[in-house]
Amino acid sequence: MPPPFAVPRTLETSSPLHAPAPHESGLKHASGEALYVDDLPSPPGTLVGHIIASPHAHARLVRHDAARARALPGVHAVLFAEDIPGENDIGPVIHDEPLLAEGEVHCVGQAVALVLAESAALCREAARRVELEYEVLPALLSIREAVAANAFLSEPHTIRRGEPEAALATAPVRIEGECMTGAQDHFYLETQAALAVLEEDGALRIWSSTQHPSEVQAKVAEVMGLGRHQVVVEVPRMGGGFGGKETQAAPFAALAALGATRTRRPVKVWLNRDQDMVQTGKRHPFWTRFEAGFSEDGHLLGLKAELISDGGWSNDLSRAILDRALFHMDNAYFLPNVQVTGRVARTNFASNTAFRGFGGPQGMYVVEEVLNRGAERLGLDPAELRRRNFYREAPAHRTHYEQPVEGNRLPRIHAELMASSEYTRRRAEIDQFNASSRWTKRGIGYQPVKFGISFTTSFLNQAGALAVIYADGSVQLNHGGTEMGQGLHTKMRAVCAHELGVSIDRVRVMNTATDKVPNTSATAASSGSDLNGQAVKAACETLRERLRPIAARLLQVERGEAEGLAFASGQVFYPARPQRSVSFAEVTQAAYLAQVSLSATGYYRTPDISYDRVAGRGKPFHYFAFGAAVVEVEISSLTGEHRVRRVDILHDVGNSLVPSIDRGQVEGGFVQGLGWLTNEEVLFDEKGRLLTHSPDTYKIPALGDVPEEFRVALLQHAPQEDTIHGSKAVGEPPFMLAIGVVTALRHAIAAFAPPRTEVHLASPATPEAILRAVEAARATPR
Ligand code: MTE
Ligand code: HPA
Repeated sequence: MPPPFAVPRTLETSSPLHAPAPHESGLKHASGEALYVDDLPSPPGTLVGHIIASPHAHARLVRHDAARARALPGVHAVLFAEDIPGENDIGPVIHDEPLLAEGEVHCVGQAVALVLAESAALCREAARRVELEYEVLPALLSIREAVAANAFLSEPHTIRRGEPEAALATAPVRIEGECMTGAQDHFYLETQAALAVLEEDGALRIWSSTQHPSEVQAKVAEVMGLGRHQVVVEVPRMGGGFGGKETQAAPFAALAALGATRTRRPVKVWLNRDQDMVQTGKRHPFWTRFEAGFSEDGHLLGLKAELISDGGWSNDLSRAILDRALFHMDNAYFLPNVQVTGRVARTNFASNTAFRGFGGPQGMYVVEEVLNRGAERLGLDPAELRRRNFYREAPAHRTHYEQPVEGNRLPRIHAELMASSEYTRRRAEIDQFNASSRWTKRGIGYQPVKFGISFTTSFLNQAGALAVIYADGSVQLNHGGTEMGQGLHTKMRAVCAHELGVSIDRVRVMNTATDKVPNTSATAASSGSDLNGQAVKAACETLRERLRPIAARLLQVERGEAEGLAFASGQVFYPARPQRSVSFAEVTQAAYLAQVSLSATGYYRTPDISYDRVAGRGKPFHYFAFGAAVVEVEISSLTGEHRVRRVDILHDVGNSLVPSIDRGQVEGGFVQGLGWLTNEEVLFDEKGRLLTHSPDTYKIPALGDVPEEFRVALLQHAPQEDTIHGSKAVGEPPFMLAIGVVTALRHAIAAFAPPRTEVHLASPATPEAILRAVEAARATPR
């Protein structure tokens, strides 16, 4: 224990906030000591839960007989839909998703039965013995097939402003076309996993790799016919989620719960990579048809677009994802006359789900495609054309759904990035290089991003925390967010340590658990630190206020001076007399003896947001995050391969809570976006079976795909109003900066064509797609 009245060291600089710090689990990730669900010690008698999945994209389940499987020694149960005691449904928003198939299967990989046995090998042997008879039905295996069959999961949603038809009719330059963006597998390093243990009175304790423990709790309770108070869900950490564990962890937890209850043994359900890729949904592919009209100087005068997403076989979060695509159709640009309509198609694929950006990337891609084609047709520099279309700073322009674009930092970011990346000089040099290089061409692209921060379902914007101080002054912090590698716990620990004035090693962030913080929202929409940070701050402030009079008594300061006591460096002191201080631990010990409660909850909800879906008007976002990238690539016209030579990013994270974490998010988000747009191609065969179900056929970016020169900077001196310590959300926005790779590739491809040729580059821009675009460019008549 430090001596009383010790002189505090470096009081002003002792806060861990706004300073670089390692990820709280970084060393454990690297050494393998970090525990994931599958690493937790299995309780004695734990059984393996194995899912028997549909081999058909669409079929009637005519007969099932598990007698031969059940007879196998070591097999404890084979369960079907009729064995579910509660509701056979796992749909997060709309109840359209049976946990185990009933009568019909709607995609390859849909869960039909659950085998419970003493080993994985036994499970597989038992699964082979289960007799399943199907009558195969016709399947819808593309968005176009679904549209032709009028198969939709939603009604159209339209946002409109101005007079787009009139603007299109009079625009000097008209562009019409369509574009597709593809699916993307989350490829989190830790696949889906859950462990369920039956407790007294039929209650269940579940360890789940989920971004949304409260929803897992709710779904398990519904499936098992229990009250939510009978179910506790705990999340140690995830080896990545990326949106893929927002809703889609729940079925595996519910199956584990069902198995544990029926067999009265602990049950673990864990998917191997192939099972995970086949059985879970992906980023939604989108098919868009558009018409656009430009002025001669590159202003986008009118835009009409119809976006159709592939929802897969059930709703999941598809409607909210489509809404976010419509909200991001404008990206950074003021669209005076615009109509965007979106609808979710129903196909016979696994139900597509949340993925970093949540429809934002798909919506943004459309306007960027339109701008790229416009720039190519007009012979304008695409960066300059983009700048001309930017939202105005003040007085703020409004988006197409009438939210003012306040605090627009893009003009500043644009100016700083153009200068630091030397865009203009390099573009001229690249044009020179291309003129003299026959087979290899280079390109440069520029990508601004404006991304709305908040769940668009407004009530989800709430969070809670529970801070517990022990008498020795050490702290356990519980909050509603989950850690998936993004550094949320590192940030929350820094916020807590700052508020209580203790060092971060005195604060332990506990596993996220529904019995500590109830009714939480998913850790999603990039708002984990925004929401939970405020809740943590509120909890710690309550505790600090309770400790203040105790400290005042120990320090013998005047009653009126208690208000001004500072908590820093593990000490409490009056700033005018820092030489007299008392340690935080002494204060907490004294508080305990004085019978003062040392635990407190905190709560936060985002103020002033709402959206009227019918009118297509409102303020769905608390604020916007901004960033921009300049990307340089080189392509080979012989192989279609490309290299990303250099990337410069300037990104706005406000007053970063922990800059080293935010920088990692910017880098990781960009590289994941680059994967979606260039490497990662999800392919199915003609029967709807996933062909790319392991890393040997599905290529996520590797080290060699990371830009050769990667210059990432965070915008300086940019505190954001009304957020946790002036910071801004960072998880998703940088993903979309990678669209700049597409613009850069188009610049390189255009070098094979006469001036003012529109490039036709499919997404993802695989070597095959690049070769096809180069061939088309070469074939353009001069
Ligand atoms: N970073 C890592 N390492 N792993 C992840 O799974 N998910 C991303 C992003 N960054 C993810 C990540 C997604 S999809 C979101 S919404 C945010 O982190 C969620 O965390 P936050 O709200 O705390 O930023
Ligand atoms: N973003 C991310 N996840 C979500 C959202 C959203 O707007 N709404 C529901 N889940």
